[in-house]
Amino acid sequence: MMVMNLLDDDALERSSVVANCRMNRERRLPGYDRELGINVVETLRSRRQPVRWLDLCCGTGNALGQAAELLGDEAEIVGVDLVDFFDCASRPPRLRLITASVVTWEPEHLFDLITCVHGLHYIGDKLGVLARIGTWLADDGLFVANFDVRSIRLGDGTPAGRHLTTSLRSQGVRYDGRTRRISWTGRRLIDLPYRYQGSDDQAGPNYTGQPAVNSYYDRHAVRAELGASH
Ligand SMILES: C[S@@+](CC[C@H](N)C(=O)[O-])C[C@H]1O[C@@H](n2cnc3c(N)ncnc32)[C@H](O)[C@@H]1O
Repeated sequence: MMVMNLLDDDALERSSVVANCRMNRERRLPGYDRELGINVVETLRSRRQPVRWLDLCCGTGNALGQAAELLGDEAEIVGVDLVDFFDCASRPPRLRLITASVVTWEPEHLFDLITCVHGLHYIGDKLGVLARIGTWLADDGLFVANFDVRSIRLGDGTPAGRHLTTSLRSQGVRYDGRTRRISWTGRRLIDLPYRYQGSDDQAGPNYTGQPAVNSYYDRHAVRAELGASH
């Protein structure tokens, strides 16, 4: 049974935890490479051109500005963040920085690379956003993000844990519990047996040391699971 007052997306997006000015919004490309475990520019260069990169919860957009300078016409780069703290000294024409919530924003086309560096920690319906991202990738596109599976909670407050990681893997999603990175390749419909209930912005610091948001779900049976016993 749910005991705490959970926030809906509007309330969460006004929360001081999400607006926290102490969080690091200013990473540059080396920081992105380290946090994501990929070389972003090399990954983009290895794809057909012009290549499209979408960075969700992009903060100041520093890493995107650097990549845009390095790649020029080879890449179209889009960054989305809830708050307009964008800080690109120059704004190359192939870089777009958009103020919007990733919970409601809709892209105009598919992307070859989608990233989210330490942004999912502040989203309410994290699993819903992952499902949305699944439909925004090109067929051979790559998604990589930092994701703390412990931030997904069931109604009694316990982490969704292994059941969730098993469900994610059954949908072709990779999760590395050591690095806390989630990734997959290719456009896909991600259908997880969880129904979003709301979020808790008082969960305290997560593994990054910054206050983060826990997301609460009801678990429900899906046809595939029921069918497995027949
Ligand atoms: C820790 S910062 C990371 C910023 C950037 N990725 C970096 O590594 O420098 C998290 C970012 O997520 C953004 N954010 C939080 N909730 C969001 C939402 N619903 N939609 C879009 N951005 C959001 C915050 O405004 C903040 O800029």
